[in-house]
Amino acid sequence: MLTRRTFLATSSAAALAPALGHARAAPQVLVAAPSRQQIAPAAYAPTDIWSIGGTLPGTPLRFAQGERAQLTVQNDLPQATSLHWHGIRIENAMDGVPGLTQDPIPAGATFDYDFALPDAGTYWYHSHAQAVEQVERGLYGALIVAEADAPEVEADEVLVLDDIRLTQTAAISADFDAPHDASHAGRYGNVVLTNGQMDLRKRAAQGDRMRLRLINAANARIFQLAVQGMEGWIVALDGMPLAAPQPLTEAILLAPAQRVDLIVDVVAEAGEEAVLVSIERDGGYAQAVWDVAPGTAARRPAPAALPPNPDHPIGDLAKARRFDLRMEGGAMGGMRGAMLNGVQSGMRQMAQRGMFWALNGVAGRPEDPLADLALGETAVIDMINDTAFPHAMHLHGMHFSEVRPDGTLGPLRDTLLVNRAETRRIAFNAHNSGDWLMHCHMLSHHAAGMGTWLRVNA
Ligand code: C2O
Ligand code: CU
Repeated sequence: MLTRRTFLATSSAAALAPALGHARAAPQVLVAAPSRQQIAPAAYAPTDIWSIGGTLPGTPLRFAQGERAQLTVQNDLPQATSLHWHGIRIENAMDGVPGLTQDPIPAGATFDYDFALPDAGTYWYHSHAQAVEQVERGLYGALIVAEADAPEVEADEVLVLDDIRLTQTAAISADFDAPHDASHAGRYGNVVLTNGQMDLRKRAAQGDRMRLRLINAANARIFQLAVQGMEGWIVALDGMPLAAPQPLTEAILLAPAQRVDLIVDVVAEAGEEAVLVSIERDGGYAQAVWDVAPGTAARRPAPAALPPNPDHPIGDLAKARRFDLRMEGGAMGGMRGAMLNGVQSGMRQMAQRGMFWALNGVAGRPEDPLADLALGETAVIDMINDTAFPHAMHLHGMHFSEVRPDGTLGPLRDTLLVNRAETRRIAFNAHNSGDWLMHCHMLSHHAAGMGTWLRVNA
């Protein structure tokens, strides 16, 4: 039984972990392999998944800020793979993008990832090879980098949101290349999960302060989230602390790959529930539930901001290099065709190759980068959505800020949701050298053409 005394003993051991982490001698081995997990209700068979470490989500990774991650990936899958450490401002060679930063890891082979962790925050990892299939099958997990000076909370919970498309026999539906998904909103599931479960239930006490780290690992689903029986603040987006905690007054939109860190106080009465609610067209659903035990009704003052990560200030926007990124194609998008493998192709020819989208008139990763930047240069990109669907645009290697219409800079992010017919301007300091992917994180859209890259010279 976990008594108060053993709880204290384990938590002080946990406090020592970062220090021990520095002394870690051997890299941690992450085995990517087929596995099974009970996802559907007990009357159904367990679901065959692909996983890092056997579970869905995969092995949770937790490091201290400033530590190095040394991770050997052993590929026991029937396909080549690679892992991407989403949101880490990483050395380029460790970014995990097949064909851009590394060769895919063949079935049966291993690859050593070894990288610094400059930033604290909520990140995640996922397969970047055949991602529509591999991420859907379960090749993803949380990657948490802890601040030396973390806020005091009773619970620090990682909640990985996903949806999955299951058949009547609870198998993952193998229609990964379905043209309708690729040309519309992307692959949506028919079962919504939190930490791999359909009905995640936890416990809390009234008055508890919890840090909730929400990660959207879905292929394409945009979650709209609210809380009940809890009140709180947004303290970080895509891993990066907000300058000031922002009271949680309206629903949060969480696009694929985005993260949000909340600090919430449980205000539900004992015997009631605190709920993370997912708002859908036809109502609100419990995404996670906490059974509330007796505690205190006394409220605490608002939390302080999380300690800032290393700063790479965005320079003078008036002198910045400017680029346009025009998104085109998809169903009802009116695109006539695009360059595909160096050949101007019509929509029908593109569709035969599973391609439906283009960035700046090119379907698939172009030969030349969108931008060729000097180290430390300021770049501005206008992302123009000329399609009938929203896109979650992700830049590897560096976080960016949105330049709001009034010229002020928004919070640092690595993924921005650009709605249909919208143009959103982003700016960033090209502080990290290498070849960096930029793509839509609706994974079927990326596979069907929505990917480009940029180069930051050393
Ligand atoms: Cu989550 Cu190209 O990445
Ligand atoms: Cu998209």
